[in-house]
Amino acid sequence: MIGRGSVGFLLAILMIGTSAMAEATAESPAGAEIKLKILMHTFRAEMERLRPFLVSEEKFQNPKARPLIEKSLAALQDRTQGSAPQTIEANPGFRLNFAMMSYHFKKTKQAFDLGAYELARQNLNATGTFCIGCHSQMPEAKGKTRVIWGDEGGTGPVTMDTAEYLFVMRYFDLALKAYDDLARGFPKNKMSSDQFPLLYRRKLALLARVKRSPDLALQNLRGDLENKKLPAAVVHEVKAWIESFEAWKKESSPLESLETSKLLVYVKDNMPKSGVQTPVDSDVVRYLRFSGLLYERLLKDTGALSNQETLYRLAQIEKTLSQKYWYSLHQSYWRECVISFPKSDVTKLCFDAYAKDIEDQFAGRAHVPAEIQSTVEALKRYL
Ligand code: HEC
Repeated sequence: MIGRGSVGFLLAILMIGTSAMAEATAESPAGAEIKLKILMHTFRAEMERLRPFLVSEEKFQNPKARPLIEKSLAALQDRTQGSAPQTIEANPGFRLNFAMMSYHFKKTKQAFDLGAYELARQNLNATGTFCIGCHSQMPEAKGKTRVIWGDEGGTGPVTMDTAEYLFVMRYFDLALKAYDDLARGFPKNKMSSDQFPLLYRRKLALLARVKRSPDLALQNLRGDLENKKLPAAVVHEVKAWIESFEAWKKESSPLESLETSKLLVYVKDNMPKSGVQTPVDSDVVRYLRFSGLLYERLLKDTGALSNQETLYRLAQIEKTLSQKYWYSLHQSYWRECVISFPKSDVTKLCFDAYAKDIEDQFAGRAHVPAEIQSTVEALKRYL
């Protein structure tokens, strides 16, 4: 969805990202948390309202559905314009993702208003990516109970759609169970084997980023291997992931408790070797883990100088992972690193990494579109 060529898109994000930055307002922590909850429940409610229409072109284009869809779209666009609740504004990762989502809703509403219904429907179906972009970066909040609404558990057989819905809405335990059931019930449940890459991308995010428990991961993945009907390629990957969770379990001092400066050194020493283009399966767990840890530091260490290097590393890791697993914010992280922390050595590192990435993306400087090149030029002022 966020393809490599979405030029205007990237530019717009840069603009939204920087203007939103200036608008953070002071607010009490409790007030901010309530504002965040209200916003999230609006998202949930509107997505819920739209859900029945998203399943087919026919349902979506039914003239009777139009006023309803229009209203939800207007609400979603409206709620993502301007500055976000403070929890989001204070964190570069959240802020960027929020800016992308804001742009996404704006474009979707435009498409719908112009009568490009199928485009609008497909866009809306991709909304979960943005929700997940924030939700799956965070470790699960301990001790917080979640109210289960309506039919979340679902009745009838589990499908990939129900599992995805639970995942997007942050019903992580239910989602994990749903993905487990799907993997373990294959092929009797008629799930297509094409779904395995997505299914395992979710499971790894849950196990390595959200749950962060090697014990649970080992038990969980071994459970999948009991299904002797899993495709051979899947078995091969699952075994590689098991190995990396085993290595994680053996770590003497958990990375979670390291000071940020020490964590950054550790990550630096364990970065993908240069020249390795695609991470091997066993590395994926490690990078998912690093990126989760770094993201969490951005959340905790609001305003800290170390955030610049955190952004730099986060971008590197996301870039590596994006080839296999994620849509990626890595270019945004590098830009943020330059704009928010001008004139240091790391600024230069971020700028160089960004400029090189752009050149690689367009196969050489000569092919970089003028708008993008002007972004690169504009960033030079911060060096
Ligand atoms: C910019 C980051 C971000 C984006 C984008 C985002 N969320 Fe959230 N979401 C959060 C945070 C932070 C929480 C709070 C987690 C907590 O309190 O532990 C949350 C919590 C939630 C909750 C749980 C609320 C509760 O009562 O605990 C729901 C439901 C939710 N989000 C729905 C959505 C949906 C649907 C979307 C996409 C349309 C979405 N969110 C997009 C950051 C985000």
